[in-house]
Amino acid sequence: MTSPDTAQTPKQYLPPQTLVRSAHVAGRAAYDALAAEAEADYEGYWARLAREFVTWKTPFKTVLDTSHAPMFKWFEDGTLNVSYNCLDRQVNAGRGDKVAIIFEADDGKVTHTTYAQLLAQTCRMANALKQLGIGKGDRVAIYMSMSVEAVVAMQACARLGAVHSVVFGGFSAHSLRDRIADTGAIAVITADEQVRGGKTLPLKALVDDALALGGCEAVRNVVVYRRTGGAIAWQSHDRWLHELTQGQPEVCEPEWVGAEHPLFLLYTSGSTGKPKGVQHSSGGYLVQAAVTAKWTFDLHDDDVFWCTADIGWVTGHSYIAYGPLALGATEVVFEGVPTYPDAARFWRMIEKHKVTVFYTAPTAIRSLIKAAEGHDAVHPRNFDLSSLRILGSVGEPINPAAWEWYHAHVGGGRCPIVDTWWQTETGGHMITPLPGATPLVPGSCTLPFPGIMAAIVDETGGDLPNGQSGILVIKKPWPGMIRTIWGDDARYQSSYYPPELRGYYLAGDGAARDPETGYFTIGGRIDDVLNVSGHRMGTMEIESALVACTDLVAEAAVVGRPDETSGEAICAFVVLKRSRPTGEEAGKLAAQLRNWIGKEIGPIAKPKDIRFADNLPKTRSGKIMRRLLRSVAKGEAITQDTSTLENPAILDQLSEAH
Ligand code: WT7
Repeated sequence: MTSPDTAQTPKQYLPPQTLVRSAHVAGRAAYDALAAEAEADYEGYWARLAREFVTWKTPFKTVLDTSHAPMFKWFEDGTLNVSYNCLDRQVNAGRGDKVAIIFEADDGKVTHTTYAQLLAQTCRMANALKQLGIGKGDRVAIYMSMSVEAVVAMQACARLGAVHSVVFGGFSAHSLRDRIADTGAIAVITADEQVRGGKTLPLKALVDDALALGGCEAVRNVVVYRRTGGAIAWQSHDRWLHELTQGQPEVCEPEWVGAEHPLFLLYTSGSTGKPKGVQHSSGGYLVQAAVTAKWTFDLHDDDVFWCTADIGWVTGHSYIAYGPLALGATEVVFEGVPTYPDAARFWRMIEKHKVTVFYTAPTAIRSLIKAAEGHDAVHPRNFDLSSLRILGSVGEPINPAAWEWYHAHVGGGRCPIVDTWWQTETGGHMITPLPGATPLVPGSCTLPFPGIMAAIVDETGGDLPNGQSGILVIKKPWPGMIRTIWGDDARYQSSYYPPELRGYYLAGDGAARDPETGYFTIGGRIDDVLNVSGHRMGTMEIESALVACTDLVAEAAVVGRPDETSGEAICAFVVLKRSRPTGEEAGKLAAQLRNWIGKEIGPIAKPKDIRFADNLPKTRSGKIMRRLLRSVAKGEAITQDTSTLENPAILDQLSEAH
């Protein structure tokens, strides 16, 4: 499939001819026409898609309101219900008996849920929540693992106009408490336990711990889905989901909300210690989730789509809970992990469910490459993956070697890979190939989605020529964008619309465009945020957690270093309140601190390296010199200017062999 005669870009992979003929966006000319349509009449373009992709209760008359920029509003006078659009609309269109969700449990047990069943289940849960007094605008925290019930919980909130805030099941009680407290949630929906990789892990017990930490006094009810039947403590505010939904009617009139009504909050790390509650809208968000799901994955009625993300991340919101359902697609929802019972789980599931479009993260691909290279039985070549037609990647840059392996061994050399760049804040894909239109270059997320005005600028917002690295911005607001940081408009404005950038959205990534093709390559974050296995982690957040261990830690600095599997790895430099430990003792204390971080934030934040020092490299004014720590973490010789360093001898200690 490599094009033989493209002199200027030898490594391009052209879209397969079948896709150039049959895709929703078929051929480069079709992409160019859409991009030109958006260029010529930006609001008209998005209004057209909003009418095509969403059923409105009251049609909108205004498209984009910029009068209070950057507090943008889209389709503001329109009303809709997101759950109606995902469920009722499919049933009304004759898709009631179509399978919406193929659920595979950790132990391999499979259940199918049709659109009619998903609608009935959502209505029953919505009625139950209503009975608990939950209604429009109330916040509901969802702390569940992957399940049909978790999707139903999100849809039920949407049906009532309640604002959900899903917290990843791997976050600690502490993180959960902070998120519940910040949203002012009045209810928590959880499960007794979760099952992953053959092990059961607590969920409800962590909700108990979170609430006991205080600050969540608004919570009146905890709704518990019985997943395992394992023993749990029972509080007076706890309610079993199956008892609440028993006998509830299978119809529930949707709450029609304005397009700007918040659909959900989702917390993500920023460059300060406190995670940001990203607030998304109902109308604009749904437009973006639906149109990107359709065009990026070229979803047709007979596709079987599988996004392996967890609903605790934005990918699970846009490409599990909302986008595919808004299109009436069939999707796989998987409870478990890629390595259980062995590292062929994904390949076996693709074969079994005849998955046609598969969307996963580079970190998963890299770990499965390693596993396949070590043990041939789990190599994808041993499985029938011929149902696949499109592959996707998300969360971090995919290195060309992993891209080529994914393309050759999973995609059989015939499936385009859509490398989708986007963020929690963007709501949906922003820069991505379209599989029937965009020639691919491994390692590049290629071109903006039609209607997304992405550009590379300098620190003052001035355009940079192709070929030059700079700051990635989005020049115009788009429908799926973040509306604000929950309860903190000022932080929203300063984080994403700094005054020096001329009103452009600051993504926080560095990037460059290819001089010939204009293709984008993402260079990684330009702020103090790390990307570990596709998860965003703020270095300040980890530092705050470390220094909160007041018995032990005097001072801490956290930096990232490149890692073959996880993309970046977390390295912590720690000064203890006692003398610097060495040898076995250092190992013991590092383990203790890792556990501490696991409890404070969650296992994903545990540093890979912890180094103890008598002090940290600082300037005379007392500022920690992180760029030096980054070099030390990488094991590089220090070549930077150290003349402003107050305590140069510390570098030798930090660089000592580990
Ligand atoms: C950050 C956003 C997008 C949903 C999952 C992560 C990085 C994301 C790519 C990609 C290079 C990527 C960026 C971005 N990122 N996708 N295809 N190529 N980098 O969402 O947690 O909000 O993280 O992930 O650095 O800013 P998130």
